[in-house]
Amino acid sequence: MSVLITGGAGFIGSHTAVEFLNAGYDIVIMDNFCNSKPVVLDRIKQITGKDFKFYKADLLDVASMDKIFEENPDIDSVIHFAGLKAVGESVAKPREYYNNNVTGTLNLCDCMNRYGVKTIVFSSSATVYGDPDEVPIKETAKVGNATNPYGETKVMIERILKDIYISDKEWKVSVLRYFNPIGAHASGLMGEDPNGIPNNLMPYITKVAAGKLPMLHVFGNDYDTHDGTGVRDYIHVVDLARAHLKALQYIEKAGGIDYFNIGTGNGYSVLDIVKAYNDATGIEIKYVIDPRRPGDIAACYADPTKAREVLGWQAEFGIFEMCRDSNNWQSKNPNGYTE
Ligand code: NAD
Ligand code: WQD
Repeated sequence: MSVLITGGAGFIGSHTAVEFLNAGYDIVIMDNFCNSKPVVLDRIKQITGKDFKFYKADLLDVASMDKIFEENPDIDSVIHFAGLKAVGESVAKPREYYNNNVTGTLNLCDCMNRYGVKTIVFSSSATVYGDPDEVPIKETAKVGNATNPYGETKVMIERILKDIYISDKEWKVSVLRYFNPIGAHASGLMGEDPNGIPNNLMPYITKVAAGKLPMLHVFGNDYDTHDGTGVRDYIHVVDLARAHLKALQYIEKAGGIDYFNIGTGNGYSVLDIVKAYNDATGIEIKYVIDPRRPGDIAACYADPTKAREVLGWQAEFGIFEMCRDSNNWQSKNPNGYTE
């Protein structure tokens, strides 16, 4: 039996591939490298000492997807990461986002159905909660007020998966709503490698720490939070990767469709992160306060009780390890995955 990991060359997919290989699973990875590089596949092998099949394929190219299932009849479940994820870009290119993420997922599900594979773990996001009425956020909170096309693709895919399950109860669906994944593999061999100037907080901070950017721009200090800066639930990518193992094992036994928040339950402000980075690395991050970034919300953090009680998963790493490992990745790979 083997697990297909779509988008397995990406940030979260690559860390998940390592955890599955370490746990003894056979995996097949597919990716079109639109936001990742082939060298990550060597890093996965280097860390685990294990081999796996890889397909350069595209969710939008049905024939390339069929070929994977045709040639690997042992695939019996899918962890579905492949998708575009840049919020700002999704506002500028909505058709590309809806097509890649929504049509791509429909193609994948059609393909799975044709080959009788009906178990899927899907990468959703806390963005489906929009601006939440209250924090910490429970899975029962209202879904559907995403503030951008990227977030809408997650809302739509959640709905599509639910309708597929309703139509055919043989499907087993686990929807994981990630909060803010950061950190890197402790080896320093894998991490987050965004193109250009990072949009997200931690990759921006690591570039400031490395002297590649002059200072952090803190987007607003007038939010209703303990120090006025935005509060988020940061989660170590290795903890997040391990949640997929637990989610797959659970849904395979329990069946049905279920939804889980994957976060630590702790909310840290931007300035808390600046301080934690200094505590973990000794590096002082220069910053300036700028106006709020459009579309941002004050606070977003999880109630992760359900994942703990139902999946038996909880985060093991704290903000110290997240900052330490992000910095370790940046300093060992100053130009990311370039050889
Ligand atoms: P990533 O961009 O590093 O990984 C996604 C991978 O999918 C990339 O390697 C990319 O090349 C591939 N891909 C994209 N479209 C494809 C297509 N049509 N066919 C084949 N491959 C394709 O992103 P990530 O941070 O690892 O995120 C993985 C998933 O988790 C995404 O679905 C993302 O929306 C979701 N997510 C991410 C975050 C986050 O902050 N990183 C938070 C919540 C949810
Ligand atoms: C975190 C905090 C910013 C950069 C995004 C997506 C979300 C999910 C995770 C995929 C906020 C502040 C940031 C900077 C700053 N992705 N900030 N200066 O916006 O919570 O979530 O990534 O599903 O959908 O929206 O993450 O890292 O961009 O921001 O002050 O240069 O850091 O204002 O308070 P966000 P982030």
